[in-house]
Amino acid sequence: MPPSPEDLCPRPERPPRLSTEPLSPPLYHAAVYACRDPRQAQALLAHEEQGYVYSRDGHPNADMLARQIQRLHGAPEAIVCSSGMAALGLAALATLQPGDRVVASNRLYGRTQQLFGPELARLGVLIVTADGADTQSLLDALTPGTRLVVVETIANPLLEVADLQALASAAHACGAWLLVDNTFASPVLCRPLEHGADLVVESLTKIMNGHSDVLLGVLAGRSEAWQRVAAVHTTWGMAASPYDCWLALRGLGTLALRVERACDNALTVARFLQERAEVERVYFPGLPTSPYHPLATRQFQARYGTVVTFTLKGGAPAAEAFIAAARHIPFSPSLGDLSTTLSHPASTSHRLLGPAEQEALGISGGTIRLSLGIESRAYVLAAVAEALDACKRH
Ligand SMILES: Cc1ncc(COP(=O)(O)O)c(C=O)c1O
Repeated sequence: MPPSPEDLCPRPERPPRLSTEPLSPPLYHAAVYACRDPRQAQALLAHEEQGYVYSRDGHPNADMLARQIQRLHGAPEAIVCSSGMAALGLAALATLQPGDRVVASNRLYGRTQQLFGPELARLGVLIVTADGADTQSLLDALTPGTRLVVVETIANPLLEVADLQALASAAHACGAWLLVDNTFASPVLCRPLEHGADLVVESLTKIMNGHSDVLLGVLAGRSEAWQRVAAVHTTWGMAASPYDCWLALRGLGTLALRVERACDNALTVARFLQERAEVERVYFPGLPTSPYHPLATRQFQARYGTVVTFTLKGGAPAAEAFIAAARHIPFSPSLGDLSTTLSHPASTSHRLLGPAEQEALGISGGTIRLSLGIESRAYVLAAVAEALDACKRH
């Protein structure tokens, strides 16, 4: 007998109704949900009834993750996106119109510079850049009629710290909103909404998830800045996969422990590097020699982040020797993993800038960025020392 269509394409059993709840959050790996009848479908799609129809509009794993991030950031609103860049794109598309003026730090992550640069300029937004290393330069660029100010709490790769309170008050005085990319700080160090910011982005790909196995972002913010967010999110197709959300929620459970440990390792390594003859300069707001030390101490309650950047005296050849000898530190141009990793900004995140622009920002061939992991202090120090020893010849 030929197989019936049911045999060829069986529908699985409906999940059993449980008399107990699982302790860990379930994974709802579904693109679409079955509705009782057209009336219910209409009510769900119009948000008159709570529930889910189509995962691009929302699903339980994204909502569970968003609620956890609302708690972490003290945010009235939060929405999860398919990447950190999607979250930044969402912030821009939900708040800006052609003709609007944006003041953007020139120290933003490379792709963010492209977004708050040629990409938005293409849509008729006026972009003004200012020196993100200098609060006054950003304040001077603010004029009445500015719609959005964009900064990173701790900028990449030289770890300049933005004075969020000063920027938020000045932005509000001009009628602008402050958008803060908090990826390098995480809510363990800084909750920008409490300093007056209106919108916060985290690339959850980094330390928030912490295991380098998802690509995700989140936009959180105040309700006033939220009017068009849901419509833009679903219309431009920015939804995240349930599995990635499930993994990230699991990662968030250890966020505070991981950040505390990595901050401790970062401070230890920064102090160690400062004493080494091969090193020209260490960039880390936790060192009293950093111009950002007083601000970071105040804004982050005396923790200084999980990334340390330094410049080797021997320039690019020394950096190559360091990378080749760093047997226990993978060269992996991201950050926030369980393991300590390194990056070389001149050839990765900042490669699109020419040498002159790199130099103007303070980046050279000898610049190395370390993202500290949660290994023991002794392990990390030994791994860095081993690589530094190879630079002696340069
Ligand atoms: C500071 C910062 N913001 C945003 C992003 C973009 O995040 P994603 O890679 O999740 O799109 C990155 C990525 O490296 C980043 O470093």
